Amino acid sequence: MKYDLTKLTIDEKISLLVGANSMTTSDANGKVRPVQMCDGPLGLRTGPKHPATPKTVDPTTGETIPVSPVAMPATNVLANTWDPTLTFSLAAAIADDCLDHQRDLLLAPGVNIKRTPVCGRNFEYFSEDPFLTGTLARAYIQGVQSKGVGTSLKHFCANNAEYDRQAISSEVDERTLREIYLTPFEIALEAKPWTVMCSYNRVGGIYASENPWTLKEILRDEFGFDGIIISDWGATHNATLAAKATLDLTMPYQKEHLDNLRAAYSAGILTEEEINERAQKVLLLSEKAAAPKHSPTTTPKERHEIAVKAAKAGIVLLKNEDGILPLQKNKIFVCGKNALLGAPTGGGSSAVWTTFKPTPLHQLLQEKLGSDAFVSYLPCHDRGAIGSAILNAPAVYKAAYGADVTLLCVGNDGKLEFEGGDREYLRLPKVYEDLIDTTAKYTKNLVVLVYAGSAIDMSAWIDKVKGVVFVGFAGEGANEALAALLTGEANFSGKLSETFPLDLNDTPVGAMKGNNGFVERYLEGVFVGYRHYDEQAKEVLFPFGHGLSYSQFVYSDLTVEKTGKLAYEVSYTVTNLSSVDGEEISEVYVRDVFASVSRPPKELKGYSKDLIKAGESKRIHIPLNARSFAFYSVALKKWTVENGDFEILVGPSSRILPLQTKLKIEDAPHPYSEP
Ligand code: BGC
Repeated sequence: MKYDLTKLTIDEKISLLVGANSMTTSDANGKVRPVQMCDGPLGLRTGPKHPATPKTVDPTTGETIPVSPVAMPATNVLANTWDPTLTFSLAAAIADDCLDHQRDLLLAPGVNIKRTPVCGRNFEYFSEDPFLTGTLARAYIQGVQSKGVGTSLKHFCANNAEYDRQAISSEVDERTLREIYLTPFEIALEAKPWTVMCSYNRVGGIYASENPWTLKEILRDEFGFDGIIISDWGATHNATLAAKATLDLTMPYQKEHLDNLRAAYSAGILTEEEINERAQKVLLLSEKAAAPKHSPTTTPKERHEIAVKAAKAGIVLLKNEDGILPLQKNKIFVCGKNALLGAPTGGGSSAVWTTFKPTPLHQLLQEKLGSDAFVSYLPCHDRGAIGSAILNAPAVYKAAYGADVTLLCVGNDGKLEFEGGDREYLRLPKVYEDLIDTTAKYTKNLVVLVYAGSAIDMSAWIDKVKGVVFVGFAGEGANEALAALLTGEANFSGKLSETFPLDLNDTPVGAMKGNNGFVERYLEGVFVGYRHYDEQAKEVLFPFGHGLSYSQFVYSDLTVEKTGKLAYEVSYTVTNLSSVDGEEISEVYVRDVFASVSRPPKELKGYSKDLIKAGESKRIHIPLNARSFAFYSVALKKWTVENGDFEILVGPSSRILPLQTKLKIEDAPHPYSEP
């Protein structure tokens, strides 16, 4: 259906520029179909009390309950899969939940770069690397929109911590902004999200919601975004300035914004033409939402299976000394409420309300290991009271002493990692560090399962334990995924999408929050994440891209073939030497050896995740293009490749790169030529 703007009065057109309530656009006096939005990105966030939430009967209790959406693994776990295809199907499954719940638009994905591991929303974001973030977000958008449900690529831009997020001004030099913080948006925009959501903060002193440079010049004119720009919820300060900067829709409803727009129109500050331009975009959104809906192609059960599959692929085996995993059939002691209740999630607008009740991990392990094994369980704290003392401490230590392997399920939850605040520490809560420390005195065979939304400093205890599994906030499928991975029924294949530093003070930002009142200066420039640790030659706990497997992979035969102007194909072979089938994520980095600006020692420019059967090899091909070699020249105002030497580095993690070769670029355009 097509709406005719001329059929609307000026006041109806103005009404379209502000939401009708918290999650719905205006209907302009019944003339326009309102758009129903809903939060993501971890699943569909629908309130059990929302009138549009369909109901079902719980077979166990006979009670009428809301149809439960699936709680997918959080984005930190999804990113650890390094798998765009899986990301697409996870996102498409969330879109099926949207279709079941009559939602037109999912407010996801978030592509803010993890500049600091303590950012409270890191669990909602992908990575410290712009290429990995952008390519996965592009697949996420394609997945949701393949079902006729819209997305909102958020939060644009330079919102990389929660501290004072409503007021802080991010002062980022332009090269850094382009190379690190805008690149994920640029890549994700290739999937044509219906909307982009601006962030709360100011960028260079001007609110992101009313910033003509970032919204109009960069997002619209340069990146060619012709969809709808939405404010983050409450991020609009002056609706007229926002409209002039090409922000189309202020969310949620607030009368003061309508009054502001009406007054600006009456005073001739905002012209009818300007209002028409914005209102036309909101009509376009309604038209998209009104298009005939797809039917869901997955059942709720299949969506749950995708949640399990993604958790399996995104949970990372960080340490596995003496092959403590997979578990053999013997006495296993599982400790910690997460084993009972499943993975927690972070707090804030992305938390999914699901009625799913997981089967306890110890029960699943018992089923898989069979009657030769004996799996016991004890809680170690009350869920929601992470700071509390260990429950039954003597019983816990006694059980660990008597067991062959002890699995401690510890970590953070939504009270420690949440929207609106940042973590104070990189370490686990002290009560858990003490638990690990004391338990390690009673057993040598300790495996720690860490549940968190971002990096954890494990240096206080890592040497005392044999195994570490980073579960992350792995969603409702966590227990099933863990049971399969820990017993070897499935193989680990996740790798870290962010560096785990040794100490908060090693990170580029450290414990600093705001450098000068309301200003956050991005002093580290492009040296974010592994770019920083590499540049400083700093040891880390676990590098970007690290993750173990039960298989053993070797890399060989690197070749680079020129395929066109500034285009190459990197090829190499990965062989699985073990007797276990496994998936391997291989990583391709590019290093500009001599550049006229200071560049990171290397940058991720390609990756591949491949199933390689026991004893088999696979030849992998990765394309590189001009952008793989370029930096953003502020002087020339464009992406620039310089002729000269580059190195191509390939391997299983950012710090293990067994294959290396050189190439000389000779066909870069003259710097003063047209782009
Ligand atoms: C968050 C957004 C979210 C919105 C709507 C805001 O507080 O920053 O990510 O989509 O609320 O719930």
